Amino acid sequence: MVKNLNIGVIGVGTVGASVIKILEENKEVICARAGVDIKVKKGVVKNLNKSRSVSIPLSTDIEDIINDKEIDVVVELMGGINEAYEVAKKTLQNKKALVTANKAMLAYHRYELQQIAGNIPIGFEASVCGGIPIIKALKDGLSANHILSLRGILNGTSNYILTQMIQNNQDFCSALQLAQHLGYAEADPSLDINGGDAGHKLLILASLAYGIDAKPQDILIEGIESINGDDIEFANEFGYAIKLLGIAKKQNNEIELRVHPAMIDKNKMIAKVEGVMNGISVIGDRVGETLYYGAGAGGEATASAVISDLIEIARGKSSLMLGFERSPQINLKPKENIQSRYYFRLSVDDKSGVLAQITSILTQNDISISTFLQKEIKQKNIAKILFSTHTTTERAIKNTIAELKKLESIIKEPYIIRIEDE
Ligand code: HSE
Repeated sequence: MVKNLNIGVIGVGTVGASVIKILEENKEVICARAGVDIKVKKGVVKNLNKSRSVSIPLSTDIEDIINDKEIDVVVELMGGINEAYEVAKKTLQNKKALVTANKAMLAYHRYELQQIAGNIPIGFEASVCGGIPIIKALKDGLSANHILSLRGILNGTSNYILTQMIQNNQDFCSALQLAQHLGYAEADPSLDINGGDAGHKLLILASLAYGIDAKPQDILIEGIESINGDDIEFANEFGYAIKLLGIAKKQNNEIELRVHPAMIDKNKMIAKVEGVMNGISVIGDRVGETLYYGAGAGGEATASAVISDLIEIARGKSSLMLGFERSPQINLKPKENIQSRYYFRLSVDDKSGVLAQITSILTQNDISISTFLQKEIKQKNIAKILFSTHTTTERAIKNTIAELKKLESIIKEPYIIRIEDE
């Protein structure tokens, strides 16, 4: 062994502690693969009084790591966006390699970091889908292909909640509480539920697949917070599972990027990704469909990805951060041009003429119904109308919803779920 790779870990929480533990417990195999000994020199934490399972020197000052000349790699596990971005920049400016699990920071700043880094390695395998090596798959394994599409269950917490709701009739709030208790959810769980976290991950994957620099505010992102038992029943009746999907598709020079709940054929492999697990289907123009499945959250799974980056850095084989530079020929498809089939849930006054008003609005927007279910709630004189459409555009759907909301007979905000049946 000629040299050590010295690392400093900023943020010694669940993932940081797992990195340190795995580096110790799997030392032999890691050393054999890295070709050097990977040593944790220091950790930085917010609170020195908190008891921890690790026995490395700890400090509360980030400068102790980023200015330490003996540290080769900074592992950033502190989370958050702005402070983490400053740490990442200083790390690279000090010519140290960076390994980060911070998807939110990368969703906003990945191209700036790539530019600052130049030839200095940045590893971010842990930022998307924890233990699944999807970053290396896109950057290396599939690099001979044009990526035609990518569809993924990119957030474990929301998948866990949906699975609990579908399989165990659990209500949304108790399923979320359980996910938090099990440590799957983000510090701010609204990002798990509103699609924000999956959006961050999709943007990172889209850069690797297409060289596109989009930010969260540029793309369609919707969450799972409004899904209810009626939607689950309808999906079941017509052979669908409901999943929060991140979708990237290329058509000519346009890339469509979106995160939203989707009804997908129950028999598809991705529909069988249940509980907290993540799964991604990537279609390349030469390889065809490839599938990736595994733990998207949790200390050890995420630490496994962090260490894979450390090993790659130790081997001196890391490539340009995002695989290739931003591509000027690629444009983001405008949201309103996105096409899909749609499921509608409407609650209306149960009286004559209402259905005719609804179908008239659909006709004006050139939307054709595919399947239809109506349920009555007798004591309240309410009818629930659930139907799916043939393929149409977001623009037509937005207009339709705006028109439906004007009807006096509509009781609740119309709710839609997109149907992905390609
Ligand atoms: N909160 C995230 C999830 C953790 O549930 O997938 C991993 O990014």
